[in-house]
Parts: sequence; C-alpha cells; structure tokens
Amino acid sequence: MLDNLGDLQRTHSCGALRAEHVEQRVTLMGWVARRRDFGPLTFFDLRDRDGITQVVFNEETARDAHARAKEVRGEYVIAATGTVVRREEGQRNLKIATGEVEVQASEILLLNDARTLPFQLEVASPSETLASEELRLRYRYLDLRRPQLQANIRLRHRVVQEIRHYMDEHGFTEIETPILIKSTPEGARDYVVPSRLHPGHFYALPQSPQLFKQLCMIAGLDRYFQIARCFRDEDLRADRQPEFTQLDVEMSFPTLEAIYSLVEGLFARVFRSAIDVELPVPFPRLSYAEAMRRYGSDKPDLRFRMELQDLAPALEGTAFAPFASVLEAGGEIKGIVVKGGSHLSRKSLDELQEHAKRYGAGALAWIKLGDELSSSLLKALGEETIKRMAETARAQTGDAVLIVAGKAKTVAASLGALRNEIAKREKLIPENTFAPLWVTEFPMFEFNDMDGRYYAMHHPFTSPLDEDLSLFERAIEDGETQLLGNLRAKAYDTVINGVEVAGGSIRIHRRDVQRLIFKALGMSEETARRRFGFFLDALEYGTPPHGGIASGIERLMMVLVPTENIRDVMAFPKTASAADLMIDAPGEVDAELLKELRIKLAED
Ligand code: AMO
Repeated sequence: MLDNLGDLQRTHSCGALRAEHVEQRVTLMGWVARRRDFGPLTFFDLRDRDGITQVVFNEETARDAHARAKEVRGEYVIAATGTVVRREEGQRNLKIATGEVEVQASEILLLNDARTLPFQLEVASPSETLASEELRLRYRYLDLRRPQLQANIRLRHRVVQEIRHYMDEHGFTEIETPILIKSTPEGARDYVVPSRLHPGHFYALPQSPQLFKQLCMIAGLDRYFQIARCFRDEDLRADRQPEFTQLDVEMSFPTLEAIYSLVEGLFARVFRSAIDVELPVPFPRLSYAEAMRRYGSDKPDLRFRMELQDLAPALEGTAFAPFASVLEAGGEIKGIVVKGGSHLSRKSLDELQEHAKRYGAGALAWIKLGDELSSSLLKALGEETIKRMAETARAQTGDAVLIVAGKAKTVAASLGALRNEIAKREKLIPENTFAPLWVTEFPMFEFNDMDGRYYAMHHPFTSPLDEDLSLFERAIEDGETQLLGNLRAKAYDTVINGVEVAGGSIRIHRRDVQRLIFKALGMSEETARRRFGFFLDALEYGTPPHGGIASGIERLMMVLVPTENIRDVMAFPKTASAADLMIDAPGEVDAELLKELRIKLAED
C-alpha cells in the first residue's frame, strides 16, 4: 500500500544537512539510491537533485517505520521524517557534502514504488562501465537521475541565465523568430514540414535565424539576441546534433572590435560564474591562413604547441620522386615534432598512419632521433637529408618527426588531426586549462572538387574584407573566377580548447555586393529571387551596416563540463542517426494525415 503525501512538507533537500543542523527535526523526500540492512538497523541513501543523505531506521526506537522501510527497494520514492544526528567518528563519509550527519528516522511515507531499473545508475568501481548508451537513451529519464547529468543540466541553466543577463545589460533585446519558415542558407539539408493548407508546399525549419536577425536590424531593432533552436539535417559527429541551441546575436553599426569585445566579455563572465575560471581577455587572434599554416586546423587547440613545420627547405632539389613530384605540383611537405617521441613503437606509428590516412594522407613518414637515427625514409633519402629534415623541424635527441606530403589541404587536415591525436595519447594536454582564440579572415569561398564550384564558407550574407572588394569585383566582372579562392571575409570563429564555440560575420548591407555574391556562387538572379527575394527587397530599404555571431550552447557546455559527448549536455538528445530512442522518433504517421497533406509515399 502506498501512502499519500497529504500536506507533509519537505524541510530540506538531500544535499542540505550539515553539522549545524544536528538535533533539528527534518523531513526529506527523494529516491532510495541504496538500502543496506544490518539487523535492527536499516540504512537508506536518499537522493534528490541536490545530493544524498543517509537515513537510518532503528527497530528499537521506530518499530513501525523500520518495518515499513524493509518493504522499500531501489528507486522507490519516499518521505522520511526524523532528527539530524552527528555520525560517529569512523562512520563519517567525507566524499559527500552531508557525510558528517545522518537522519534518525521516526516516520516514513512510501510515496511510490519502482520496477527494477533496466540498468544501474551508478557504477560501484572505476573498472565497471555504465550500461550501453543505447539502453540509457531509451530510458533517458532514468539516466538523467545520475548526478553527473543532473549537474550538467543545471550548469547549462546557469550558463543560459548568465548569458541572458549579460546581453540585457549590454542593451540587447531578446526576440523570438519563427520556426516554420523557408530554407535558410547555412549549407546543411533542411528539415521540412508539409503544409496542410497549402498542399504540395513545405515549411523548412530554421538552420539558424540568420535572415530574421538581419531583418531585425533592417527593422531598426538595433541589438538582437535569442536562445534559438536550430535544425540541421547533416551527417552527425560527436559534437553535432540535428537540433541544437544557439545564442544568436546581431547588432547594428558594429566594428569588428565591438563584436570581439562583446563576446570576450560574455565568455569571460560565463566561465567565471559557471566554473570559476578567469579567461585571458582579450583572446589572441590568428588569421585562418596562419591557423592552417601553423596548426593545420581552423580550430586549433592552443593548450599545447606542436606546430606544423615546413620541411620543403630541407628537400630542395630532392631526387626522391614522391617528394619531388609533390613539390613540383605546388604541394607541401610538413612535419610535427613529437617531444620524447623516439620511443614510439612500430605499432603506434602504424596506428598514427591509419589516423592520418583517414584525413586523406597517402602515407605517414617518420624520423626517430633515438640513440640511433632511424627513419622510414632512410633508404630513400639518406642520412644527411634526414638529419637536415630533423634540424629544419627543430627536433632534438629523443624526439620523433611525423611527416606528410601532398596537397596543402591534405597535409593540413592530416597533420592537424594527428596533432590532436598525439596530444591525447601522449597526455600533452594540461587539465583545467582554457585556451580561447579568434580565428579571423576566413576565406569567402571554398572550392568543391566534387562538383567543381564555389560555396560560401560561412554563408552568402557575409561581407568580404574591404581591401579584397576590388579583387572580388574583378573576379566577377572580368570572369577571373580563380581569384574567388583568395578572397577573405569579415568572418570569425571563437575557438576554445580546439572546439568551435561560436562563429559569425559582418554582413553585406549593400544590394550590389549581395548580387555579386550570388553570381559568384553560380546562383542566377531568378534563383536568388525565388529563395531570398523577400530579403533582397529588404536590403533596398535602408539597411544599416550590421553583423553578429552565434554560439553553440552545447559546444560551450562541452568545454565547460568538460566532455567530448554532446549528449552529456542536453536533456533529451538524439542518436548519431538522428533518432530519439525514448519516444521512438521519427515515426510513421496515420494514413489519414498523409491524405490530408496530400502526400503519397513512394513504393521505394
Ligand atoms: P554556424 O553555422 O557557424 O553559424 O553556427 C554557429 C555555432 O553553432 C554551433 N553549431 C552546432 N552545435 C551543435 N550541433 C550542430 N549541428 C551545430 N552546428 C553549429 C557551433 C557553431 O560555431 N547564422 C550563423 C551565425 C552568424 O553568422 O551569426 C551560424 O549559424 O558552435
């Protein structure tokens, strides 16, 4: 038989009681995390979102309550009333905040029972692992009872509150923009929603509120922000979800400096209040070109160095055909120095080569400066050249140099990825360190080899750098399209510890420049009008210079927690195949509804 709560009130949370509460009469409510029986004594670990308190039922002093407590199993929901007592010397548990005291219960209400959970919430020892993520996602509401996830969710709340206060204090207005809209230009696939009232027509869910926030500027709202839900149907990775949340920001008449300092102040405040860390402000800046040259990545992790070294000077005039042909074709030969890496085994080197190949490298060559010089290139290049390469890379005795040759893009991608992998393996990343930076001057356009055309690297509403504008006009007006790849944008990302936590740009506010961009992207005037006509019209009614940024709340949380799994910082995440295993979405819909929507499913 279950009890009713009636008008019994909880006096404290399960994380609240300390020595100062001794002798007070209290009522706690929560879930029974663990029960231990010692004859006349029964102990509960009672848990709620705040913590755990030990509750004791003593057969001698509280016979009825003790008998009732015997019926209780794990995860039952109870209320316990009793007196706070100090635990005896040897019985204190310094691992928990309430560990100095316990509650000697005189009454218990059994508020609800629980089936045996499909998995254990806690692991008893570090060698045990949690149940599979699939099972835990199916019962997400149970997994969320784990203290770690609870802490993450509450930290996220704190972060969002800080953001709201900060933006308000800086004169920004929180404005909601619609979810049922038309395609937005962030470059992923849209999620679409069929319209019943307009058969054959579809809404798209926003990949971001990009055009709406720009329209807010045209409307004269001056400073906008939103904690905005975004939807992108793209291939998922560990740091991506199909629906996620952005702090979305836009301001009128901004300088780049105004945006940088606004965002630096925001992140500094969030880090201070969420995890008590002072970020170094202002953040260092690296242009995209420099980031790629030195770190092989547009989101370099600056907690460790290991910069890419250009080895071409050591290989001038080489007769070794694979290298000679790379250099002749304008490619690159670069290496990274692994400090103390001469111990790397053949097996580790093979694994690292596999890693590099995943990022396009044809092979990974190596030099080891152990007691003896050894290298995969020794036969091909000879000792003298190998030594020159090691010297050029500034490697020292005991180090290893890992080398990739090929197109600049491939060399950067594979060495950039290796840099992160090695830092992890060799434990080169200091804990509790935060290295923020701005990556600036992104290219305007990126050439896609697959379909032989240019794409906007950020989005097509991003302004070119003023000094590149005439180059841009030349590229379009005189048909010198190969110049497009050299154009730089007023686009920037904020990167912390190798995670892209925000990205934005100064926008185009002039209709003539916007027209050139669409032309560069191979979009006819007609297509541009069909997709963005409303926006192009709006640009002609007095658009102020404007710009902004958006920060992925989940990405930011991943850095703060820290965790490499984006699902750890969301209440109800989706799997890598965009499914919600708990509610079993996506699902089929009734034939009747499809009929109303005038949708017929193809046979195959
Ligand atoms: P962008 O596409 O760079 O820019 O996105 C901004 C930030 O959002 C986060 N983010 C994601 N987080 C989780 N899952 C995803 N699938 C995902 N995709 C992006 C990242 C990223 O830096 N409208 C522009 C912003 C602007 O120009 O103002 C935009 O959305 O942290």
